Amino acid sequence: MGKFMVLDHPLIQHKLTMIRQKDCGTKVFREVVNEISMLMAYEVSRDLPLEDIEIETPLTKTVQKTLSGKKVAVIPILRAGLGMVDGILQLIPAAKVGHVGMYRDHDTLEPIEYFVKLPSDIADRQLFVVDPMLATGGSAVAAIDALISRGAQPSAIKFVCLVAAPEGVAVLRSAHPGIDIYTACLDERLNDDSYIMPGLGDAGDRLFGTK
Ligand code: PRP
Ligand code: URA
Repeated sequence: MGKFMVLDHPLIQHKLTMIRQKDCGTKVFREVVNEISMLMAYEVSRDLPLEDIEIETPLTKTVQKTLSGKKVAVIPILRAGLGMVDGILQLIPAAKVGHVGMYRDHDTLEPIEYFVKLPSDIADRQLFVVDPMLATGGSAVAAIDALISRGAQPSAIKFVCLVAAPEGVAVLRSAHPGIDIYTACLDERLNDDSYIMPGLGDAGDRLFGTK
């Protein structure tokens, strides 16, 4: 079974409280989503493998650690996942970025795929799939299905969100039990419209100012 981790560092909790507030405007919302994503990337990348390399300091030769193994790709689920990319790239600047476009039909709540563009070596990469909201779990499951059907290795996928509903966590775990899930907070529940409560509203609209 994959990990389920709530990254509740005080800085993350403080920043999440800022963006939950309805008066938080687009500029601050965008900046703080990026900051939280950067802080989360520190933990999400904790088990990246290291190898020894020999280097020379100004004083001597020495064997030290460097990142090895699979290179990383960040995969935002459009649109709202885009808001998390730059923060992660600040810590892992060489990562490639693939895009999966998925929106939730307002009536059926079913995820609709409308765009997929991935690095060609997706099968050889460690993948961080990012989306601020894990609500019913439909979008996350469909996005991960889209990656696996195009060659991604399930064991190389981690899902990273800011706010998760228990219902979405259960759906994602049941569809993809081996995938690690990282969230900044596990909220209480979904409401009748499948919005996360207390949540932060519609993350895409708040990021891009479309409402
Ligand atoms: C939001 C959010 C997730 C999805 C979560 O996207 O960013 O992708 O809903 O809901 P689910 O877990 O029930 O699938 P939305 O469909 O609003 O599209 P947007 O990012 O383009 O605003
Ligand atoms: N998508 C969002 O943006 N927010 C929610 O609460 C649920 C789905």
